[in-house]
Amino acid sequence: MRSHYCGEMNESLVGEEVTLCGWVHRRRDHGGVIFLDTRDREGIAQVVFDPDTPESFAVAEQIRNEFVIRISGKVRPRPEGTENPDMPTGKVEVLGRELEILNRSESSPIPVDEYVEVGEDTRLHYRYIDLRRPEMTERVRFRSRLARVVREFLDDRGFLEIETPLLTRATPEGARDYLVPSRTHPNQFFALPQSPQLFKQILMVSGMDRYYQIARCFRDEDLRADRQPEFTQIDVEMSFVEEEQVMDSMEALIRHVLAETMGVELKSFPRISHAEALRRYGSDKPDLRIGLELVDLAELMRNVDFKVFREPASREDCRVAALRVPGGERLSRKQIDDYTDFVRARGAGGLAWIKVADPALGREGLQSPIVKFMDDDTVSGLLAATGAEAGDIIFFGADRIATVNESLGALRLKVAKDLELVEEGWAPLWVVDFPMFETAGDGSLTPLHHPFTAPSCGADELRANPLGALSRAYDMVLNGVELGGGSIRISRPEMQQAVFDLLGIGPEEAERKFGFLLAALRYGAPPHGGIAFGFDRLAMLLCGADSIRDVIAFPKTQSASCPLTAAPGEVSAAQLRELHIRPRQLQN
Ligand code: AMO
Ligand code: AMP
Repeated sequence: MRSHYCGEMNESLVGEEVTLCGWVHRRRDHGGVIFLDTRDREGIAQVVFDPDTPESFAVAEQIRNEFVIRISGKVRPRPEGTENPDMPTGKVEVLGRELEILNRSESSPIPVDEYVEVGEDTRLHYRYIDLRRPEMTERVRFRSRLARVVREFLDDRGFLEIETPLLTRATPEGARDYLVPSRTHPNQFFALPQSPQLFKQILMVSGMDRYYQIARCFRDEDLRADRQPEFTQIDVEMSFVEEEQVMDSMEALIRHVLAETMGVELKSFPRISHAEALRRYGSDKPDLRIGLELVDLAELMRNVDFKVFREPASREDCRVAALRVPGGERLSRKQIDDYTDFVRARGAGGLAWIKVADPALGREGLQSPIVKFMDDDTVSGLLAATGAEAGDIIFFGADRIATVNESLGALRLKVAKDLELVEEGWAPLWVVDFPMFETAGDGSLTPLHHPFTAPSCGADELRANPLGALSRAYDMVLNGVELGGGSIRISRPEMQQAVFDLLGIGPEEAERKFGFLLAALRYGAPPHGGIAFGFDRLAMLLCGADSIRDVIAFPKTQSASCPLTAAPGEVSAAQLRELHIRPRQLQN
């Protein structure tokens, strides 16, 4: 129907007859001439109708925004002084000759011709219009390009793209499963995969050597800006490798992606142990664009008069730490109170602080509600330990270790953003040396990653000291976002059973849930390992979007529903009967 895309109009076409199809982005009636800015996926072209073509002019008069039209006409330079340097097509226009309305549109609930803040429910309900907005169209296109760049890279390096089932058994990745009832097997359910983890490991046992998949995963968990119930991973697995090879090739992938899509050359990927990340940044996914670091003060505070610090300073399970913020002396009382509420919401007991006017003057140069509880040596020790300078504020956290990390870690990000202390650019890193397990509320062990992650030690050592054991896992972090995580896997059945035992999964339960994996491991499993990246998160970071919902064509809301299709929805009683399901409200 068309000869060119609207966005292709440029000076090289001057004098040519073109036919364009698209949506009316904006109609402007300049008394005597009518301008139709016509939009398609590639851009916007200005089309002019004048009364010399009376038939088309009459049609143009009826046109409204978002009508679908087809026009033919001749490309000409815009008259001098009317060029639009902000538009890629701004040097030319099309003098319209023919105009056909292909379809009409009701008045749009979302303005497309100018950027307006629209509520997310409306945006998702009318997603087809929302996606017409140029910035959204651009994100959809970017995502497609990103997938292509990833595929090309992995294809070139001998990875096979292999699909794995969506109707399967539960894969434990720490979230709830989405279940699908089976019609042919009464009272039995498929689970949608939380990840292709078990299948990719089995593919290694099959000798596929290098696998990847741009895979859809399903997790019924609490949603946030960077979490969706269904999301996409770049899922990778490799055989006969150790950590170094997986990390090197995946670092190369991310370097290649940033170079190809953004023209960015990433610098080094520092490696930080999990323990060091928590100690220095209060987070296992530190944003290294921010220079602020936590400093431990337990040593110094063990004997102060201030109970809030003294008690946690001598407890194993507690931490006393400071966060020095350059330029923070100018914070108002109100701002400090707001930060105090911010850390309280994360479980902290309060937020002690010291404003530093002049560190050379000792306590005379400080303003604080707590220095009165400290002797001169403690004050000077604390100024030295934090490296305090004139104009700083120092914040303190004294609580259980996890609480201090969580509250000061989050405060670090917030204050840096508020005071514009976040450097421009890209800060990737690897977090390594994760513990194998952590303890759940009831004291039982849970895996920090998934239960197929290999420990750095042997089975006996693991059994002797499970909480002290490290795993062969690695996470890639970019600008404070956990982009991906993976590990070297357990490839021997005995070790797998040892881990299951520690997790309280006895041989019977293991056989029932993961028998197929354990069996596969008994038939010649190669050493293997891999990783999965959050594809939506990668797209979000590279697009500068605030939420992964903005880089997914049809995302779900925070409560895991779809306003466009009104999913999830009710189904007929007959369908339920077929599936052997009786809904609760129909009982008795
Ligand atoms: P993991 O659970 O760490 O590992 O997931 C890998 C990456 O997937 C992304 N991600 C999500 N993105 C959007 N919404 C979600 N709900 C969501 N959950 C996770 C994150 C995360 O880093 N099978 C293992 C990988 C492996 O060991 O190879 C796994 O799934 O970016
Ligand atoms: P208080 O003695 O409770 O009035 O506290 C004095 C200062 O210490 C206040 O600024 C509190 O916000 C702060 N504070 C209280 N508890 C903690 C804590 N657990 N960690 C850090 N600061 C705290």
